[in-house]
Amino acid sequence: MLGIAILGAGDIANVHIEAYQALHNRCEIRALADIFQDKAEAKCRKYGLACDVVADYHELLERKDIDLVSICLPPSAHCEAVVDFLRAGKHVLCEKPMAPSLEECDRMIAAAKAGGAKLGVVAQNRFKPDIMRTKKLIDSGVLGQIYFAQANSLWWRGDNYYNLWWRGTWEKEGGGCTFIHAVHHIDLFLWLMGDLAEVSAMVSNQNHQNSEVEDVSISTLRFQSGAVGAVIASLLHHGEEQKIIIDGANGSIEIPHKAMASRQKSNGYPEPDNEMQKKMEDLFGSFPDLKYRDHCGQIENMITAIETDSNPLITGVDGRRTIELITAVYQSAFTGEKVTFPMGEKDLFYTRKGLLSKAVRFHQKTKSVENYADTGIQVGGTL
Ligand SMILES: NC(=O)c1ccc[n+]([C@@H]2O[C@H](COP(=O)([O-])OP(=O)(O)OC[C@H]3O[C@@H](n4cnc5c(N)ncnc54)[C@H](O)[C@@H]3O)[C@@H](O)[C@H]2O)c1
Repeated sequence: MLGIAILGAGDIANVHIEAYQALHNRCEIRALADIFQDKAEAKCRKYGLACDVVADYHELLERKDIDLVSICLPPSAHCEAVVDFLRAGKHVLCEKPMAPSLEECDRMIAAAKAGGAKLGVVAQNRFKPDIMRTKKLIDSGVLGQIYFAQANSLWWRGDNYYNLWWRGTWEKEGGGCTFIHAVHHIDLFLWLMGDLAEVSAMVSNQNHQNSEVEDVSISTLRFQSGAVGAVIASLLHHGEEQKIIIDGANGSIEIPHKAMASRQKSNGYPEPDNEMQKKMEDLFGSFPDLKYRDHCGQIENMITAIETDSNPLITGVDGRRTIELITAVYQSAFTGEKVTFPMGEKDLFYTRKGLLSKAVRFHQKTKSVENYADTGIQVGGTL
């Protein structure tokens, strides 16, 4: 039975608590930590948890009965807490985005190695049956050579979203829609498409007055495979219709699921290739369903990794890859230069100091609340 601690008793903590409770045969929540201790106490009451509540997470570092820690803190607080627990030999599942800089990601990965503990980074959308099937379909090679891919990570948030104290500044939130929202699509995009070679980008803040950070970004990419692509992220799309498109020589596949295949007529115009389309759909449908999905799927995967001493599906190295693309978007947008991969210490934006020295403050944040009267979030968009 694994002992669990959860840091941060805000919105996403609900999803973690519900997943651990669903897996009660294998784990037990033993502590909740939040700087607002009353929030953690209210959470215990809401979920009927008989666990310890602390305001300072350092009190939990030496606890022998805690094996795995869920980090549900604002992104700028991830690195310090993750490193502290990994060094104490505790396994850690860190919420997305891993951290606002590659330097912090590297410290987290190094701490996992040093402490001999496992580090997982949340990317719960991989644990959706159709997304797992898309990955298997692409890996099967049925699409042939992949030429082009696009992620439309389109969301909608009103200005009130940025009133929360830690949101809307480069320092505390760490980034805008690319970092906080498109991180979901970027994780999938890189998982499906492989390593990057170069990125060029622009960012802007079109309509969020209480925020320094971007609410739209447009990036063009070249992959090491030779494929090219684009990532578009925004908080401006009423309807939040999100999509990933992957175009191969033999067919195209999309998330949400759609498979299409065309062949050419004598004049080069397309006609449906029904045979290929059937082949793609049959293969897609042959991959099994998932017993556990979304956060519950990822938490179950993390627990299995600990029980069997194997790697979780999404490690610190995977979390870092996503941050690498996001860092490239900011570095390219704010320096006006193309970024080549891999990124590392040579890059100005490798550290948070570099990002803070060059990032444009689009607006000054003037309103701030400690907590909202309304709680509740939407997780996952239309993926
Ligand atoms: N995977 C997803 O789909 C998803 C969705 C929403 C949020 N998130 C991520 O979850 C994290 C938290 O987001 P949220 O929406 O729950 O925010 P939130 O503000 O609702 O919750 C964060 C909590 O952390 C507490 N906190 C801050 N600093 C602390 C510290 N040093 N020690 C202890 N407690 C501290 C705050 O008081 C707050 O209660 C972020 O990284 C966010 O990006 C992930």
